Amino acid sequence: MSDDSRPSPPAAPSAARTAAVIPAAGRGVRLGPGAPKALRALSGTPMLIHAVRAMAASRAVSLVVVVAPPDGAAEVRSLLDAHALPERTDFLVVPGGQSRQESVRLGLDALPPGHDIVLVHDAARPLVPVDTVDAVIEAVRDGAPAVVPALPLADTVKQVEPAGTPGEPEPVVATPERALLRAVQTPQGFDRATLVRAHETVTGEVTDDAGMVEQLGLTVVAVPGHEEAFKVTRPLDLVLAEAVLARRRLNDGF
Ligand code: C5P
Repeated sequence: MSDDSRPSPPAAPSAARTAAVIPAAGRGVRLGPGAPKALRALSGTPMLIHAVRAMAASRAVSLVVVVAPPDGAAEVRSLLDAHALPERTDFLVVPGGQSRQESVRLGLDALPPGHDIVLVHDAARPLVPVDTVDAVIEAVRDGAPAVVPALPLADTVKQVEPAGTPGEPEPVVATPERALLRAVQTPQGFDRATLVRAHETVTGEVTDDAGMVEQLGLTVVAVPGHEEAFKVTRPLDLVLAEAVLARRRLNDGF
């Protein structure tokens, strides 16, 4: 087992219990045709199982709620049954919705009482190391209502006037100062009541949960993310994910 997948030290008995919601209901069209993205295999194991193991690797996480494709909850349940997962972690599967936001809300609705910290983690980020998961949880325990893992950008970012037609030239309207920007990953961590309130109150398209908490006027903090927490979106990302897994196997001496 590599350092990245080794379980974290036991959580302090008094610590708030943490649940992880994994939205996995997307079709993943940018990855090309085939099964829903979360069910595609990486090194022979579905991406979703990697993501579930990544959350369960943290000893603070006692429940993982998987939000399955609306017509795929039974398939996801049998996948979870078929793969070895830590005994100390409980699992729930619920059907998802039309948008990521709706899928996360359906996952939150299914949470039983007793978990005061909630992580929201994309199934499409199967390789996030446990140290990153634990750093997010710790920052919530330290009092932040919302925490995101984030990395500085390698590329300069331009704001454009989007062209109506793909491939058409687009006028550049601004260049935000790169040093002030971060690329945000998951798991994002929340005080549970804050996240529930955000999902009840904020409407409109958002691309991450922390953005909803920002709209409540609360402070979101960023902690260091990890390059292995990248999102598998396009075909080249599958190649990179396989390479990361191969490197881990090599480091493990298999
Ligand atoms: O589409 P995107 O890559 O941003 O999706 C991020 C995560 O949200 C993925 O894990 C995907 O499965 C999930 N999702 C979902 N329900 C949707 C759309 C996306 O659970 N309707």
